[in-house]
Amino acid sequence: MAQHSPPSRLTARVVCLPGDGVGPEIIDVARPLLVSAANRAGITLELLELPIGGAGYDADGDPLPASTEAACRAADAVLLGAVGAPRYDALPPALRPEQGLLRLRRALGVFANLRPVKVYPSLVDRAPLKASLLEGTDLVVVRELLSGLYFGEPRGIEGDRAFNTMAYEKSEILRVAEVAFELARTRREAGRPGQVTSVDKANVLEVSRLWREVVSELQRTRYPDVPLTHQYVDSAAMDLIRRPASFDVVLTENLFGDILTDEAAVLAGSIGLLPSASLGAGPGLYEPIHGSAPDIAGRGVANPIGAVLSAASLLRLSLHLPAEAARLEAAVEAVLEAGHFTADLGGDVSTAQMGELICRALND
Ligand code: IPM
Ligand code: MG
Repeated sequence: MAQHSPPSRLTARVVCLPGDGVGPEIIDVARPLLVSAANRAGITLELLELPIGGAGYDADGDPLPASTEAACRAADAVLLGAVGAPRYDALPPALRPEQGLLRLRRALGVFANLRPVKVYPSLVDRAPLKASLLEGTDLVVVRELLSGLYFGEPRGIEGDRAFNTMAYEKSEILRVAEVAFELARTRREAGRPGQVTSVDKANVLEVSRLWREVVSELQRTRYPDVPLTHQYVDSAAMDLIRRPASFDVVLTENLFGDILTDEAAVLAGSIGLLPSASLGAGPGLYEPIHGSAPDIAGRGVANPIGAVLSAASLLRLSLHLPAEAARLEAAVEAVLEAGHFTADLGGDVSTAQMGELICRALND
């Protein structure tokens, strides 16, 4: 799904939100690559760097400071590192770093979260799963990002009872399902199967029954050319590691998508590799799917590739520079193919060195 109108001007506004943990280190690698790719296409970036998450709380007493939110709303795109650190765990729920991210997703209206999972041939032997299972894996999860249990009301803790609400409006299901079907068509044009697997728990949950009904009707009326299957989330979780190559576009609700994409990251070999794009009507939000990794933060060993590939998605979907996006992705692939790996993949390349290697591959 392309974002709002292509920039006709020669500048674009991008807000970088390094956040917490390894966030600043990986954004330090992704930012210059983004800038040089945009410059190469004749676009000057107006870059802003602002705090979010724990860094927002430290700076302003709020995990999403008002100035950060306003700048993101006014931007063409936002590139985020990660939020969260153990030292904020004791804060009241509304002040926790994660709330900054959830509020930002809401503020930007990014209801569709695209998480592609690709298996690089050079990594097959480093991934925990058997090479024979991984062959041909190239899928994308379309996760609904603004509803379900994450946002449903009522929610709370009352004495010995705690509760959350899983609720979906038909309109919320429709708009994210459209993204999945459109994406499936695009992928078919690019030689992929172009089919949608909609994941739910319709044998138990009313929400899932509505989900299934709405998705089926949309397919019947507007996307009869796109093959659709439905699968229960427990069975989909098993098939994701048993026969991952059978999936193409996986459409699912917020919490199921959160869980399944961490699982799917195992296919790629490391969660540090996976980018994401969150899209709606306004600016897109691009972030690696891994978290702040407090255990390795500050040591310069984090894998910056998820952030770099998120920057590539930003170039493609928000700045409408598909050729520059593809060049950056190809540079990443070339570095991996040449056998350079960060610690998560068993190598000894540092975060900054990985940035230099990608930069060199870009200029080759
Ligand atoms: C993700 C993360 C977030 C989520 C957290 C940090 C709130 O796990 O993007 O997958 O649950 O959506
Ligand atoms: Mg997650």
